[in-house]
Amino acid sequence: AFYPIILSGGSGTRLWPLSRAALPKQLLPLLSERTLFQETVSRVTSLPDTAPPLVICNDEHRFMIAEQLRALQIQPSAIFLEPVGRNTAPAVAIAALEVFSREPEGMMLVLPADHLIRDQAAFHRAVLQATRLAEKGLLVTFGIVARTPETGYGYIRKGEALTDVDGSYRVQAFVEKPDLATAQSYLDSGEYYWNSGMFLFRAKDFLAELRQYRPEILTACEAAVTAAKSDLDFIRLDPITFAACPSESVDYAVMEHTKKAAVVPADIGWNDIGAWDALWEVGSKDAAGNVTRGDVLLEGAGNNLVRAESRLVVALGVDDLVIVETADAVLVAHKSRVQDVKKVVDKLKTDK
Ligand code: GDD
Ligand code: MG
Repeated sequence: AFYPIILSGGSGTRLWPLSRAALPKQLLPLLSERTLFQETVSRVTSLPDTAPPLVICNDEHRFMIAEQLRALQIQPSAIFLEPVGRNTAPAVAIAALEVFSREPEGMMLVLPADHLIRDQAAFHRAVLQATRLAEKGLLVTFGIVARTPETGYGYIRKGEALTDVDGSYRVQAFVEKPDLATAQSYLDSGEYYWNSGMFLFRAKDFLAELRQYRPEILTACEAAVTAAKSDLDFIRLDPITFAACPSESVDYAVMEHTKKAAVVPADIGWNDIGAWDALWEVGSKDAAGNVTRGDVLLEGAGNNLVRAESRLVVALGVDDLVIVETADAVLVAHKSRVQDVKKVVDKLKTDK
């Protein structure tokens, strides 16, 4: 079987003031009535031969996670609780150890909990294609055609075509978060995909690569699992050994090094909802290009994103703004500056 692994550890700082440390973006209903986490879990339930999802999240979010699964009537394979965030390499390692212990040949489909995928059918096709590569021991990435020189993504250079599975390639190079000049040169070359952050591989193949490239992460995770404690529906990782694990993303720890990577190009309507401009891009717009939610009145305003959570918001004669009203904080930002929301939040944290 294959196990959907749902990574739900981020806090989504750039979606402040809606997302907070205690209520990160994946647990919010940003685009529909369902939260991004619920959308992610729902996306995989209809795939063939699929085990219930395995969730790995921060201890602080356990009740929200459990409640959001219950609302979908999904009984998870397991919910692992991290006492502290150690980035994605340890999270994936913990999941891999669990899958391997259940099924030595088990596969895992690693899914960030906070992405939008508009073309469900194309996503399913890509996953099935990837399954055939993972069966051969490859670590499969899903490549998104790069549109801008985004520096917050990993870049995948496709290598030779894998003839036994049409339309897939070896990965010639994987570069996590290049600088702007490098990203621009990748874009110009037309040879690169963005890494979507989703992966498919057999647990045993991932563990073998981790053992080769970052054995200290594997050792720490094994210790944290060995000393883990069951608590209600949760598996609580051992706080001391897990805290001692190096903090590193799966991209740096494994994907940049492995020689067994493959890429399946995925034209699936993907968006990682990184910042407020992404919500404007994917939202449905009025005739003047505004995306609104809640009690909003616009007059002579164009191309804005306006979200009212608790009060009426009126925008008059303004363009290209992001206005997000919540009960205790309001953001007014130019759409071109929304990446800097993260800086503002960091400043708020240090000022307080
Ligand atoms: N359980 C757990 N624990 N999950 C985590 C942790 C953690 O410590 N840290 C991050 N996550 C989750 C996040 O919630 C998110 O769903 C996913 O793992 C990816 O983490 P991000 O922090 O969002 O990664 P990124 O955006 O910097 O980069 C990754 O995604 C890009 C595409 O969105 C990389 O894979 C890039 O290569 C990729 O292009
Ligand atoms: Mg991300």
